[in-house]
Amino acid sequence: MEYEEPLFFTMMQYADAADRDVVDMVSGNPDWGAPEGISDGLHDYADAGGEAFQYPPSDGLRELRERIATRRGVDGERVIVTNGGGMANTLGMARALERFDGSEVLLADPVYPYYPGKTEMLGGVQRFVPADDEGRLDPADVRAAASDETACIVINTPNNPTGTVYREDAMRELVAIAEEHDAMLVSDEVYDHFDFTGAFTSALSFDSEHAVVTNSFSKTYAITGFRVGYAILPRRDAPAARTRNMLTNVATSRPAQAAVVRALETTDASYHEANRERLRERVETFTAALDRAGAEYTTPEGAFYVLARFPDYPGTMANAKRLIDEAGVAGMPGEAFGESRGDWLRFALVTPHVETAAERLAAYFERQ
Ligand SMILES: Cc1ncc(COP(=O)(O)O)c(C=O)c1O
Repeated sequence: MEYEEPLFFTMMQYADAADRDVVDMVSGNPDWGAPEGISDGLHDYADAGGEAFQYPPSDGLRELRERIATRRGVDGERVIVTNGGGMANTLGMARALERFDGSEVLLADPVYPYYPGKTEMLGGVQRFVPADDEGRLDPADVRAAASDETACIVINTPNNPTGTVYREDAMRELVAIAEEHDAMLVSDEVYDHFDFTGAFTSALSFDSEHAVVTNSFSKTYAITGFRVGYAILPRRDAPAARTRNMLTNVATSRPAQAAVVRALETTDASYHEANRERLRERVETFTAALDRAGAEYTTPEGAFYVLARFPDYPGTMANAKRLIDEAGVAGMPGEAFGESRGDWLRFALVTPHVETAAERLAAYFERQ
């Protein structure tokens, strides 16, 4: 895939400029609000001033790193707080390409489009492995594609855009393949709080020198604008990644980190459970309308996206724009995620107007 401006922005701008009311199902911005600790932490931070307004440690506030390390059961030396999950992925992939001899990065198709973009930016070579019908990479296919040229395997669980959750066996296999081929598994787990199956397994469960886990508070606490995420690297890789993070970002925003620390202290499991419940309901409402529209669709096991294929309506950019103009619903063209789901459209369930969107889509395709 070409390294270019992500199509997300093109679609959002098109929807914004439309001459009608449009339900935006393009972006991945949660609409359900952050936990109270986020605002409380920010208010208190604003009053602190002085030293608290100066540089934080480059790899993150000590309280934050310690909390993450304790929660994830790892040594704090392995944790780097980053500018969102995006930077954490860059650190993991860059380290893989630096440490190992190969230059290939194995990616799923369909893929979260920033991974191929990063691969190219980092001088790596993209190699796509088609996902199965459930939207997962079959470890056997990854094994067949892996070679001495492989430096990195990137997976995302729960998955954007397919909604799939990798099971423990598959995760174990993927880590093993990275080890056998002297490569790094980068496991992007930013949607780990949005697992509807209970089967989510982090790559951290397998103590490996060949796995980097990335995560973020963007989705966990509905704060995509704060830019706080983290990478957990093998002990031997953390120092190089720490330096790369320092040279690239200096540090991650201190007020945002302070707010996340407070939220970690004060948010209980019911916040996450309520978010999952809301999403389950939205999935039901939306997919019921897709049935009425005669569409094929994925029922997500996690994350917050539904892929849909409408009869005689391939998910091209032109058709995604037509859907905005004629139905008042904005989704992402499937072609943005690679070749294999080029006929599909992706809808993000992060709007209170899912029901309106569902009704509009059903009515629009019933008329077609
Ligand atoms: C799979 C995946 N990884 C990473 C990110 C980026 O996360 P962040 O906002 O924390 O950089 C996203 C955002 O949508 C995503 O879908």
